[in-house]
Amino acid sequence: MTIIVYSSILVVQGTIIRERTRAHVKPTILTFAGSARRDSLNKQLARIAADRATARGAEAAFIDLGDYKLPIYDGDLEQARGIPANAVDLAELVDNADALFIASPEYNGAFTPLLKNTIDWVTRVDHRAFVRPIALGSATPGRMGGRNGLDVLRAMFENMGVPVIAEQFALPHATAVLKDGMLWDSAASRHLDSVVSTLIGSVVAMAA
Ligand SMILES: Cc1cc2nc3c(=O)[nH]c(=O)nc-3n(C[C@H](O)[C@H](O)[C@H](O)COP(=O)(O)O)c2cc1C
Repeated sequence: MTIIVYSSILVVQGTIIRERTRAHVKPTILTFAGSARRDSLNKQLARIAADRATARGAEAAFIDLGDYKLPIYDGDLEQARGIPANAVDLAELVDNADALFIASPEYNGAFTPLLKNTIDWVTRVDHRAFVRPIALGSATPGRMGGRNGLDVLRAMFENMGVPVIAEQFALPHATAVLKDGMLWDSAASRHLDSVVSTLIGSVVAMAA
């Protein structure tokens, strides 16, 4: 998080009448998706969330979990070969973020094995890595927008002591409205802005 301190001084006839200091907090937001698929709807959503966070004054970055391939977690593998470098790199990225926006597809009423495996490896680096404000999103071609999957993801994070923000973004019929990296539904777009603003606000509130 970058904190910029502004000072303003009102001087009248050589006397300081009023001195004001205010801190402007620039939160760092990391976004990623629980899908590595090339044309993933959720990767599009996570990218858009990063853009929206940047537009709201945050330092935001999207990462593709496809660039951080990891084997399925296995305790014997960890003992034999240690924690993979990609898990260590991901843990550092998460640690450097004040808050996360995670967009996960729904697979059979839950979130994806890619996301679970990533979380499991990262917590082997730092078991409290995800304990920071997190906003959840989901995009599916169906009419529920992945809400059931988000319920499961939320429950898991809450069991881990993660402050997941109450507002979340579940986008139904996503193949029709997520195209060319844009969200072509104005109500959904406003809702996403609101979720991102709340996430940023939660970081700013913690810094105050
Ligand atoms: C194994 C599997 C299970 C799925 N289960 C659900 C489901 O329970 N609910 C749903 O809305 N979509 C389900 N889908 C469809 C996904 O929402 C859809 O494939 C989506 O595009 C995946 O996200 P992505 O585009 O980010 O890769 C499932 C897809 C797969 C491959």
